Amino acid sequence: MSATARLVDLIANDWDDAAAKQATTTLDQVVFASHLLGGNRAVSNFGGGNTSAKGTTVDHVGREVPAIWVKGSGSDLATMSSRDFTPLRLEEVLPLFELDEMSDEDMVAHLARCQVDPAAPRSSIETLLHAFIPAAHVHHTHPDAINVLACSRDGRELIEECFGSSAAWIEYIRPGFTLAKQVGAAVRDNPDTGLVVLAKHGLVVWGDTAHDAYDRTIAICNQAAEFANSRAGISVRFGGPNESKRLDQDARHETLNAILPTLRGAVSSQRSKLLLVDLSDRTCEFVDSADAQDLTKVGAACPDHLVHTKRLPMWVPYDPATEDLETLKQRLSEAAQKFRADYVTYFEQYASDQDQIADPDPRIVLIQNVGLVAVAPTLKNARISRDLFHRAIEVMAGASAVSEFVSLSAQESFAIEYWPLELYKLSLAPTPGELQGKVALVTGAAGGIGRAVLDLLSASGAAVVAFDIDAEGAARSVEAFGENAISVGGDVTSEAAVAEAFASAVSAFGGIDVVVSNAGIASSAPIAETTLAEWDRNQAVLATGYFLVAREAFRKLQQQGAGGSIVFVASKNSLVAGPNASAYSTAKAAELHLARCLAAEGGSDGIRVNTVNPDAVLQGSKIWDSSWRTERADAYGIPPEGLEEHYRARTVLGVNVLPVDIAQAVLHFSSLARSGKSTGNLLNVDGGVSAAFPR
Ligand SMILES: NC(=O)c1ccc[n+]([C@@H]2O[C@H](COP(=O)([O-])OP(=O)(O)OC[C@H]3O[C@@H](n4cnc5c(N)ncnc54)[C@H](O)[C@@H]3O)[C@@H](O)[C@H]2O)c1
Ligand SMILES: [Zn+2]
Repeated sequence: MSATARLVDLIANDWDDAAAKQATTTLDQVVFASHLLGGNRAVSNFGGGNTSAKGTTVDHVGREVPAIWVKGSGSDLATMSSRDFTPLRLEEVLPLFELDEMSDEDMVAHLARCQVDPAAPRSSIETLLHAFIPAAHVHHTHPDAINVLACSRDGRELIEECFGSSAAWIEYIRPGFTLAKQVGAAVRDNPDTGLVVLAKHGLVVWGDTAHDAYDRTIAICNQAAEFANSRAGISVRFGGPNESKRLDQDARHETLNAILPTLRGAVSSQRSKLLLVDLSDRTCEFVDSADAQDLTKVGAACPDHLVHTKRLPMWVPYDPATEDLETLKQRLSEAAQKFRADYVTYFEQYASDQDQIADPDPRIVLIQNVGLVAVAPTLKNARISRDLFHRAIEVMAGASAVSEFVSLSAQESFAIEYWPLELYKLSLAPTPGELQGKVALVTGAAGGIGRAVLDLLSASGAAVVAFDIDAEGAARSVEAFGENAISVGGDVTSEAAVAEAFASAVSAFGGIDVVVSNAGIASSAPIAETTLAEWDRNQAVLATGYFLVAREAFRKLQQQGAGGSIVFVASKNSLVAGPNASAYSTAKAAELHLARCLAAEGGSDGIRVNTVNPDAVLQGSKIWDSSWRTERADAYGIPPEGLEEHYRARTVLGVNVLPVDIAQAVLHFSSLARSGKSTGNLLNVDGGVSAAFPR
């Protein structure tokens, strides 16, 4: 049996008695169980599911009060700490069970007043569901195995067949007071009830201890999985592969690298997106399958997925055996437009006056016979979308094998996607940086200025690509940025290395928006002593290198079709003639003019090209650690240690220029908001050198 053959996977019970003993309080116990539930995404997806415990706590005036700790809104079971649980006074929550109805606003306001600690996070949307079940520990999860049955057309019968009368079945209803009351009543009215299954949503299980509730959750998931596996009686998922020839992994990667910039441009209608490729076995099995096309029209596999995946993925038919890449590119653009138009129609059909339309671009793109691409302004969000779609794949596989996969209606989906309580979770995310969703490639990334540029662009929210002939140095420059950066070693004078750097940017992030051409060397000699080799080296790195980087940047930016910014880090010497540096200064002048020519050429594609001219940035610069320092000092007839003072004195402002000053100028030209109407421009960052004043 292949790794992908089992219909529904069984879940391991990860409870560890020794580790659990460390969790001494009731709250510690529920934290411990939450980590186990969230640690297996087949049990609880990111941000989804919630846990609670009941006990007693001491309030702010020292009284012992009965309390319930419920997971706070916006946290994730896998990583949450005790501070992410909200303690509420149980005696002020329980009387709500007597009400017939309650609006979301009233419920949220009431629960806020019940908090033992007002500084704790807002408690979960599903707080009342936990409170109304009498047991001490309640676990609500969205397990694949349960949703296989809960998202089946005849889910109620299947659940009954699997669990008999111990399972209570609740028809789909949006979470809130009424659902909580229905669940509470099902448990309170029938002492034999051992679990509650929420149609098209998930599972509620309880116990006297966290251990008990956890064990029962896992046992119930496995009972559902065994039932689904035996019931389906087949091992082939999604009707098996479609009729096209299956591509190997290399061919899939090759296809994606060729089309990702096109796709990125197509799905970045209102803001730039990062693309995350997923070619895992089960994803490929799905996009290659006979049934995928129909299944992707049904809807989400759990209400929790909606704000991260949207109701439907963007499905792009493609047969690599008979169609070419140009056809696919064309289709991607058309599919993205159609997706947006459909999304606007969906919004207009169900929106009320208060609703504001979300970004209409897809979050999940499925390219038939190739793979999945997750789309989001941050890599973290793209990862969440991808991971949730993995859950959807498992649920669709099971549900369509045991019965027929069903989902929320469009109206029910809208009610979740635009539910203020769901949107509240999203509002907890940090304020986006001004370059969020942008990808910036910086050459000379291991050097003083390159590093400062990377720091600032990354702090502004960009994903960054560090390129330098010093591969280790480039890696060190971005090691603090985690998944939001990659580094590539290579020489800007090599066509192949430059192409490779851009290809790496495309496969890591989907494309490119900002290119900072900054790699450099310096040499100094009177003309009579300048060797041809020295002349050629300056030309190769500073002129040809900038040409090659800009050419590749143009190719990718034009394919993406969303404009872009190229920034050259030239030099004051590109404008000012001085002695003993003709090879360097002439090559820097070539850079400046190349930037202007490219600005003239790029305008119609929205590609801006601007130049920053530093002067005498001694801090952090490898150039200034080399013979250049002594050569320049000799040229001015001063000792090398006197250079800082010499350069400061010769500026109009009387200041030394630092790498971060250059980085600020680069950020200015990188940002559309700051300089969207400037191209062919130059910005001197030199403390003021009157000979370099542009005219
Ligand atoms: N520091 C200054 O005073 C000053 C003044 C004017 C202009 N500049 C320009 O600023 C840019 C950055 O300079 P810096 O001060 O950070 O110098 P730096 O030496 O610290 O950094 C330059 C980086 O470019 C890399 N590099 C050199 N040749 C390369 C090649 N062929 N391919 C890929 N990478 C290569 C180096 O490995 C180095 O990491 C250069 O273009 C330089 O000419 C600097
Ligand atoms: Zn739920």
